[in-house]
Amino acid sequence: MIQTQKVSGRRILTSPAIHPCEDISPYTLLSSLISLARNICSYRSKFFATNKRNARESIRQIRVILVFLEEIREWDSDLPGSVVLGFSELHLAFQKARFLLEDCTRDGAQVWMLMNSERVANQFRVLARTIATALDVLPLALIDAPVDVKDHVELVMKQARKTRFDVDPDDKRVMGAVISVLSGFENGVVPDKGDLKWVLDYLGIRRWSSCNKEVKFLDSEMELENLNDEKRELDMLSSLLSLVCYCRCVAFDVVDGEPKRQSNGKCTSEALIGLKPDDLRCPISLEIMVDPVTVASGHTYDRASITKWFRAGNSICPKTGEKLKNMEMLPNSSLRRLIQLYCSENGIPFVDSGHRNRHVKRAVFAGSLAAEKAMNMVSDYLMVMLTAGTGMEQNKAAYETRVLSKTSVLNRSCLVEAGVIPPLLMLLLSTDSLTQENATAALLNLSKHSECKASIVHNGGLEVLVDVLKKGLNLEARQHAAGVLFYLASVEENRILIGENPETVPALMELIRNGTDRGKKNALVAIFGLLAHPGNHRRVLAAGTVPLLVNLLMSADAEDDLVTDSLAILATLAEKPDGTTGIVRHGSLDSIAEILNAATSRAGKEYCVSLLLALCRNGGRDVIAVLVKSPSLMGSLYSLLSEGTSRASKKSGALIRVLHEFYERKSSGLMAPGFSQERFVHVW
Ligand SMILES: *[C@@H]1O[C@H](CO)[C@@H](O)[C@H](O)[C@H]1NC(C)=O
Ligand SMILES: *[C@@H]1O[C@H](CO)[C@@H](O)[C@H](O)[C@H]1NC(C)=O
Ligand SMILES: *[C@@H]1O[C@H](CO)[C@@H](O)[C@H](O)[C@H]1NC(C)=O
Ligand SMILES: *[C@@H]1O[C@H](CO)[C@@H](O)[C@H](O)[C@H]1NC(C)=O
Ligand SMILES: *[C@@H]1O[C@H](CO)[C@@H](O)[C@H](O)[C@H]1NC(C)=O
Repeated sequence: MIQTQKVSGRRILTSPAIHPCEDISPYTLLSSLISLARNICSYRSKFFATNKRNARESIRQIRVILVFLEEIREWDSDLPGSVVLGFSELHLAFQKARFLLEDCTRDGAQVWMLMNSERVANQFRVLARTIATALDVLPLALIDAPVDVKDHVELVMKQARKTRFDVDPDDKRVMGAVISVLSGFENGVVPDKGDLKWVLDYLGIRRWSSCNKEVKFLDSEMELENLNDEKRELDMLSSLLSLVCYCRCVAFDVVDGEPKRQSNGKCTSEALIGLKPDDLRCPISLEIMVDPVTVASGHTYDRASITKWFRAGNSICPKTGEKLKNMEMLPNSSLRRLIQLYCSENGIPFVDSGHRNRHVKRAVFAGSLAAEKAMNMVSDYLMVMLTAGTGMEQNKAAYETRVLSKTSVLNRSCLVEAGVIPPLLMLLLSTDSLTQENATAALLNLSKHSECKASIVHNGGLEVLVDVLKKGLNLEARQHAAGVLFYLASVEENRILIGENPETVPALMELIRNGTDRGKKNALVAIFGLLAHPGNHRRVLAAGTVPLLVNLLMSADAEDDLVTDSLAILATLAEKPDGTTGIVRHGSLDSIAEILNAATSRAGKEYCVSLLLALCRNGGRDVIAVLVKSPSLMGSLYSLLSEGTSRASKKSGALIRVLHEFYERKSSGLMAPGFSQERFVHVW
């Protein structure tokens, strides 16, 4: 179902080498060794920023062994079975060598490898000693090969034992420079730009995009390390991360490698292909999981839901009903990363209740002192650029803010405290569409955080945002603005203020009507957020939401997500009599009954049943009379009864009772003309 290879690759500086199996034939082993060795030799042409000499020496030794192995194969004589042991050891060593070389040349890992150069040099040393030992146990005398080649191998064996594999003095010097920049950070010393350039140059980091790769790499290492809770390692990582963030902002004027736009809501990452949002929802709560854990049956739930389930005394798997061997909950980190990826790629997560923010919280780690100070310096730098830079500098600073607000080490309040919100709001008025887009995107990334919400509202941002929503220079900016409003609407006072602006709701409607899927999604969740304030109900209804959403539901190519969100809104509207009237009057009952059948997501089905129930409750007999005629409704309800979530199944049961009762009364002629709606109120 879910492909995880792309997401959880091998961790750097680990070598999961495996021993060849014992009964392998010497010839199979030999050809595998040769192809491994060839692969290792191909690293000769790669760029090694650090540990150059050690890597080269290691490759040289393996090349000599490769020649020897190729000769053996050439001579094609009978290999004694006693070579297997030596070959196997060699095979293991070559696997490790390849991992190590891979790490040394890994894109984005240059800074980390520099700081670990001692450990890496050590690994090269251990590797050489292992190779020497492997050659030692090879019965050279029994193997047919030219004498000079054998002599060469013996020589390599000696060298492999003796070579020192020290840390390169140049590496040491550059490492020293990095450490002094970091301690400078701790004392609030702004680093010299020339020094930074020198370090970056040495590591081959010459463009914004390569620096950005370093940031991304360290960021993901941090996340992995976060799970281990290794304080010293974390401190180092966070310091380095803040250093490369600083460098990216300060040392590069131009952003290269056109940032990828996502103008539709479709996922672009390979790992996400074929992934349905439903896979990321907890089967119990139906919400996007925050902390997915896998229980003994192999099924995955959100920690909060399954804990509640266990506490309630259940010891079976909620999904399969099988008895669980134990109540262990293993964090499913690969799924967690996928969820994070999904949420960030799709910009906006869906919130189905005003109470809980579904945004996946990244573990906030304060980081080292150096990191904290560096982040303050970055924030101050960006503040200056946003306020007083040239047009290009302002745009880049907005872009950096946008990107930074996603980095886990960053204490986002740094940015807000440095005062980036007012200048970002000013940039929304920019006449350059890319700047406007970058500024809205930055605000979107920041507005997930409460201190930022307050600052936006406090600085008069609501009006500006609605303006961008209505007539932003490009569609992306408008979509982002809808997203910001969604986040702002998680606060009750904001819901009131946003709703009071008569232009907001119509502008959101326009986006639903004519936006991309991403824009529609943002607008839908914003509307849903606004509905949490009862005063907005009438406005939303008056803006023509019902026909718009029903059309959206009926369109053949509507995305699952959009269907779910639309149903959620309609269900909320239907809870009030005028909402129900609107839906009934629009003649959408048949369609809604059919959607229950067509909706593919669990959440969508549940909202749809809620909607139908609310319609019956408020619309009474007129509604029920239409629904009982729907050919597919009963079937859908019965299948939900057995297959749906517990909530969906409870609601289906209630709805089935309502429909049955109506049917019986009608056929027995007992239906009173003044049939009371009250009867249904307490059924569910
Ligand atoms: C994580 O969850 C996914 C999806 O439920 C599942 O396929 C995978 O096996 C789980 N991984 C672990 C380690 O439990
Ligand atoms: C973030 O920084 C602010 C001040 O800049 C500080 O009050 C707050 O405790 C910090 N939060 C974390 C999680 O480090
Ligand atoms: C945002 O800013 C970056 C860097 O200046 C620029 O390359 C990009 O075109 C801008 N616009 C968007 C939509 O990313
Ligand atoms: C937040 O920042 C990240 C990093 O650039 C970006 O990929 C993401 O699209 C941003 N979010 C939005 C909604 O712009
Ligand atoms: C919808 O968008 C298209 C182009 O994207 C535009 O031509 C059209 O005028 C828009 N319709 C409305 C009603 O704004």
